[in-house]
Amino acid sequence: MLVLAIESSCDDTAVAVVEDGKRILSNWVSSQIEVHRKYGGVVPELASRRHIETIIPVTRAALEKARASLDDIDGIAVTRGPGLVGSLLVGLSVAKSLAYVKGKPLVGVNHIDGHLSAVFLEREDLTFPFLGLVVSGGHTSLYRVEGVGETQLLGRTRDDAAGEVFDKVAKALGLGYPGGPIIDNLSKRLGSEAIRFPRALLSSKTLDFSFSGLKTAVVNYLKAHPLSRDEEDRLIGIVAGFQEAVVDVLLRKAGQAARQEGLERIVVSGGVASNSYLRERFCEMARNEDRAVFFPSPRLCTDNAAMIGVVGYHYFQKGWTSPLSLNAFANLPTPPIPTDEVLD
Ligand code: KG4
Ligand code: ZN
Repeated sequence: MLVLAIESSCDDTAVAVVEDGKRILSNWVSSQIEVHRKYGGVVPELASRRHIETIIPVTRAALEKARASLDDIDGIAVTRGPGLVGSLLVGLSVAKSLAYVKGKPLVGVNHIDGHLSAVFLEREDLTFPFLGLVVSGGHTSLYRVEGVGETQLLGRTRDDAAGEVFDKVAKALGLGYPGGPIIDNLSKRLGSEAIRFPRALLSSKTLDFSFSGLKTAVVNYLKAHPLSRDEEDRLIGIVAGFQEAVVDVLLRKAGQAARQEGLERIVVSGGVASNSYLRERFCEMARNEDRAVFFPSPRLCTDNAAMIGVVGYHYFQKGWTSPLSLNAFANLPTPPIPTDEVLD
C-alpha cells in the first residue's frame, strides 16, 4: 500500500511516499530555518506563509522521487495536530483537496504518534509495548506505547519543552538558531569541568519535567558572570553544563518510567533525540540496566512526513479514515486507543 504523507505542523514543509508503513520511497523536508533564524525562534505567521509557497513543489518532488503519480497512491495521511494551527491548515487543505479530487481515502494523524512510530522505518522487528520519550522543540513527554497510535501519557513538561530551552539558551548566548545542534557540537569540545546547573523535579515521584528554571539559571549565571568574546572555554563549560542538566533529567525520568511500567524497551524520538550526548547516555543506561534503547536516525528524529506515513498506513489497515471535514488542532491529546471522534 502506498501512502502519501503530509506534515506541516511547525516550520518544516514535509511530504513523503511510504510503502506498507515501513519502506521510504521518498521523504522530502523543506526547512524554514533561514526564515526564522533572525528571530531566534519560529514565527507562526511566517511559517504558514512559507508552507503555502512550498507545499505544492515539495509534494511534486516527493511523488517524482518515489516514481509515483497521484493515481498510484492508495491513501493520504496528514498531520492534524498538535502544532501551529495556521501551519497545520496548509497541509490539511492540500491533503483534503487531493483526496477529494482523486477520490482517495484520507486519514488524520497525531504528530506525536508520528514521532513515536518513526522508529519502524528502520526497525521493523521492534515489538510493543515500549516506553516512548518524545523530546522536541514543542514537546517533552513520556508515553506507554501499546501499538501504533495507542499511547498512554505518563508525564510531560510543565513549562518549556527541552528543544525550546536549547534554542532559548543558545539565543541568550548569541549562538544562533536552532540552538540544539550548535550546543551539541560545542559541548563535544569540553576540555575542563562543565558548569553545574540545577535539575528540576529530579527527586520527586512525578514523571513530569520542568525546564524553564534551568533556562533562568543559565540567564542568571550570565548576568552574574558576564561572558566576554575570548572566553571560549567558559562558553563551552556553560553549554555542556546546560546540556548535561537536560539529559540527566530526561534520563532519570525515562528510567523511572521504564521501571514503574515494567518496560524493557525505550524509544527516544523528536529533534532533541538526535543529540549525541543524549544518545551516549541513554545507551549507557540501557547497558547498565539491561534495557534496549532505540533511536530513529537523526533525519527521522526531526520533523518529517515519513513518520506520518507509518501511522497512516496502520490506520488504513484498520479501516480507519477521516472525513473531508477533518480539522486542525493546536492541542491534541494522544488517547490510548483512537476513536472515530479522534479521527474526525
Ligand atoms: O522534532 P523537531 O524537528 O520539531 C518539533 O516538533 O519541535 O525538533 C526541533 C528541535 C529544536 O528545538 C532543535 O534545537 C532541537 O530539536 N534539536 C536538537 C538537536 N537537533 C535538533 N537539540 C539538541 N541536540 C541536537 N543535536
Ligand atoms: Zn515534531
